[in-house]
Amino acid sequence: MTYVVVESCIKCKYMDCVEVCPVDCFYEGENMLVIHPDECIDCGVCEPECPIEAIKPDTEPSLEKFLKLNADFAKVWPNITTKKEPPADAKADKPAAKAEQDAAAPPANASDRLFVTIAALGAVLAPAERLRSIYPRYVEAQATAGPDGLAFLPFRAGTPYQGEDLVYLGEQPEQFFARCTRPNGPVRGTCIHERSLDAAEITLRFPREWLEDWRGLAAGFDRLLAQLHP
Ligand code: SF4
Ligand code: F3S
Repeated sequence: MTYVVVESCIKCKYMDCVEVCPVDCFYEGENMLVIHPDECIDCGVCEPECPIEAIKPDTEPSLEKFLKLNADFAKVWPNITTKKEPPADAKADKPAAKAEQDAAAPPANASDRLFVTIAALGAVLAPAERLRSIYPRYVEAQATAGPDGLAFLPFRAGTPYQGEDLVYLGEQPEQFFARCTRPNGPVRGTCIHERSLDAAEITLRFPREWLEDWRGLAAGFDRLLAQLHP
């Protein structure tokens, strides 16, 4: 399943949706945005943010045309991660009710949530193996100290993880490690912590600020995974 941007976005482009997507899977054309169906994690956070209800789950009937349009253009349009000014020829103002609601309470920040995805591990290396054999090829030589024993090691520019830091428990990296994007202006950093569970890979995405209490976070992840186990 994925969410789909439909025709009412054309010449509206309010872009409230972009601000809340935890995985940055919106792509921008001149007159509208689209969602990359392979990147969307179906969290549904963007759907209520669009003032004109231009985002629909693909389970709704008669969306095939727009599902294809979203999939096709997401491959060629640039990724958009922050809200911009709407185009000069955008349609009329945001519906009054939504404008009032936004003024009274800004949209919930999706970055304050934990997102969990579960996928088959397949032929992909397990997370601990990636830590041992893949990540060391791409990191800088010097780590800096983080909260409560954590170390931050930047990935080098020009590598598949550029712009991210490898975060790990200094003395026992395999006990806790994550990859985190760095904060960039108003865009907060996001961390990805991966674990394997039998033949599945569990991906947990959370705000970088949560690393301040990474021990409590790791204990919470342990409890969550214990509940997932049959
Ligand atoms: Fe992004 Fe979630 Fe909306 Fe998909 S459903 S586009 S992941 S906010
Ligand atoms: Fe379009 Fe609605 Fe997003 S108008 S840009 S889908 S907030």
